Amino acid sequence: MAGAALAGLRIVVSAGPTYEDIDPVRFIGNRSSGKMGFAIAAAAARRGADVVLVAGPVALPTPDGVHRVDVRSAAQMHDAVFAQLPADIYIAAAAVADFTPRQVAPGKIKKRDGEDGLTLELVRTRDILAEVAVDPRRPRLLVGFAAETGDVETYARGKLAKKKLDLIAANRVGVEGSGFESDDNALAVYWNGGERALGPAPKTELAERLLDLVAERLRA
Ligand code: PMT
Repeated sequence: MAGAALAGLRIVVSAGPTYEDIDPVRFIGNRSSGKMGFAIAAAAARRGADVVLVAGPVALPTPDGVHRVDVRSAAQMHDAVFAQLPADIYIAAAAVADFTPRQVAPGKIKKRDGEDGLTLELVRTRDILAEVAVDPRRPRLLVGFAAETGDVETYARGKLAKKKLDLIAANRVGVEGSGFESDDNALAVYWNGGERALGPAPKTELAERLLDLVAERLRA
């Protein structure tokens, strides 16, 4: 049974968005609801895995049997994921900010008379997945996600290679019925020498199919 293949394994899942604070009242965020990552964590726990869910700011209940660590920013998610290593598998479904303000303003940024714009200086965040991939405690299987609006296979395979992943699950964003916020999704999963299309289906169902594939690739 595919489910049994994950029993007893330690699996870290990231989910949801990150919020990058601009000042005490504003932040840069994204539309991730956490549904995809939470469904994966729930399915893995049902299969008997020891699951840690590192969650950005979302309004979802913690799945049964899952240990949840809440974070807000990309930097916090980075530290929380690394604090959970070593692990057997890391599945990165979170939509981590690629950029964060260079400085968080200590007070609310005010509109000034005569200024018709505001320039924010952003700096790159650390790439959690890419850093986990080269860490001595690298999990046996690293699964990334790729949110793409077009040219899905090219970009997803590019991320698979650049981030040194074992699997990448690509989904289309910016269309109805998949990606951010939706209850449903469709995944194109790529690995070196293979690919599999999963869905369209509810995210709960896709989580099961993705874990079947994860179990297969662990055995491969
Ligand atoms: O949360 P939902 O509403 O259910 O939506 C699900 C989803 C669309 C968010 C999810 O299926 C998804 O695609 N997650 C990844 C979104 C994303 O940030 O993709 P990316 O192509 O920008 O990043 C590629 C991979 O690198 C991702 O696994 C991401 O977690 C990881 N990453 C990115 C930036 C960074 N600084 N550190 C990272 O680890």
